[in-house]
Amino acid sequence: MTQDELKRAVAQAAVAYVVPHLDTGAVIGVGTGSTADLFIDALAPHGARLAGAVASSERSAKRLAGHGIRIVELNEVDTLPVYIDGADEIDGSFAMIKGGGGALTREKIVAAVARQFVCIADASKKVAVLGRFPLPVEVIPMARAYVARQLTALGGAPKLREGFITDNGNLILDVHGLSITDPVGMETRINQIAGVVTNGLFAARGADVLLLGTEQGVVESRRP
Ligand code: A5P
Repeated sequence: MTQDELKRAVAQAAVAYVVPHLDTGAVIGVGTGSTADLFIDALAPHGARLAGAVASSERSAKRLAGHGIRIVELNEVDTLPVYIDGADEIDGSFAMIKGGGGALTREKIVAAVARQFVCIADASKKVAVLGRFPLPVEVIPMARAYVARQLTALGGAPKLREGFITDNGNLILDVHGLSITDPVGMETRINQIAGVVTNGLFAARGADVLLLGTEQGVVESRRP
C-alpha cells in the first residue's frame, strides 16, 4: 500500500469517532495536513448531520466549507467531544511532533479544548524517540534570532522556514538534530523562551487514541 492509501484508510476509520456526535448538536475539532484533508473528505457525506466543526487552520476551514460543513469559531463553544488530526511523529506514550503544515498553535489550542484527541497517521509516523522530524517552533518575528540562539543552546539546529507565515502572522523555526527523550520537559522548556508562541511538541496533551495505518490494516490503540 502507498502512504496515501494508508492515510486514506485512517481518515476513513476516524469517521467512526464522529458518528456518535451526528444529530446531537455537538461541534467537533478538525486538524490540518494531508491526512486531515482526507478525513475532511471522508466526513463530507455526514456533513449535513454535523452541527459544525472548529478548524485548526484557514486551509482546513476552506476545505470543510467547500463540503458544506459549517465552520464554528472556537470561542463559540465550551467543549469539543473529539479532535481529529494527523502528526509528523508519535511515540509510544502518544506524545507527538506536529506542525509540519505550520498550524501547530491553532492545533494545540483546539486540542486543549477537546475531550478526546484522535491521532490519524500512517505507520511511518510511529517512532521510538521523537526528533528525527525537525521540531517546528512558532515565533514572534522580532524574536526570531534570539529564539534561534536559545534553541541552539538546547542542542538543536534551528532553520527558518523560508517564505512561510503562519495563520497568526508569525514565523516558524524548524529545529533539526534533537533527540527528545523527555517530551514534556522539552515542550515546557521551549515554551518558556520569550518570543515563542508555541512549539510542535504535543506531550503535555498528547493523543488519547491512535489510528495507525499499516499494511495489516488500521490498528487502533489507546494512550498507555
Ligand atoms: C499541521 O500543522 C501538522 O501538525 C500536521 O498534522 C502534520 O504535519 C501531519 O501532516 P500530514 O498528515 O500531511 O502528514
